[in-house]
Amino acid sequence: MADRCHVVLIGPQGSGKGTQAARIAPRLRLVHVATGDLFRQLMTRDDELAREVRSYYDRGALVPDELTLRVLLQRLDELERESAEAFRGALLDGYPRNRAQAEALDQVLRERRDSIAAVVHLAVPRAVLIERLSGRLICPQCGATYHIRFSPPKTAGQCDRCGSALIQRSDDTPEAIARRLETYEQQTAPLLDYYRARGLVVDIDGNQPIDAVTEAILAALEPRVGDPSRCRSS
Ligand code: AP5
Ligand code: MG
Repeated sequence: MADRCHVVLIGPQGSGKGTQAARIAPRLRLVHVATGDLFRQLMTRDDELAREVRSYYDRGALVPDELTLRVLLQRLDELERESAEAFRGALLDGYPRNRAQAEALDQVLRERRDSIAAVVHLAVPRAVLIERLSGRLICPQCGATYHIRFSPPKTAGQCDRCGSALIQRSDDTPEAIARRLETYEQQTAPLLDYYRARGLVVDIDGNQPIDAVTEAILAALEPRVGDPSRCRSS
């Protein structure tokens, strides 16, 4: 049996990876690990590394692979140190995004004797993605995600969870959105074949109400992640 089972979420920008990961990770006792969130946290610092990440992030370009892997590994190591027993796997949101990252992840998991239990593919038409990204608001304090129409906060402009003022993401501009969607088509979407060949991909219709998408993902994942002969149960 592998030591830990991880789940990879793949879908275009705005498909609901962050929204769904926040809902399903606790239900499956996985930890939500999002490279985009790690970068947003890192960019709150005022140092050379933060400036380097920002120079890619704000344009909607991918941060270099080596730096991204380093940031991801730091987070996985931290989880192992802080809660080795309780940490049964990560729900990876936003990693891998290209072939080199997928191969790097395979190597890291081999070294740790971990495995990938499933790859969830969230499919959403392009016009819907643009509408979702243009209306997205996030909480800079706790990372919660809202949408002005589809998932509005209880009080306009204010986070339900922590009360902070909501903002738009710096990469939710029309130019950066276009670049991110193009990068997804060219570099990330081909990963689905890479994982399909290993029987790992679960296709989910992400163009449904948020609750319906959550239920569809849980129904598909529970048999894979909940099976103690495949993944540790504690
Ligand atoms: P990242 O933060 O991962 O952003 P992304 O990939 O562009 O994806 P998004 O977060 O935009 O979309 P999402 O699918 O999470 O949608 P959400 O749930 O928010 O990455 C940002 C940047 O970091 C990258 O561009 C790059 O620079 C860097 N980076 C990150 N990882 C990297 C890597 N591996 N390598 C290199 N660089 C990396 O939902 C969107 C909106 O829709 C919300 O408003 C939400 O409320 C709404 N919504 C969600 N679901 C529904 C629904 N079912 N119905 C109606 N509305 C919905
Ligand atoms: Mg996200």
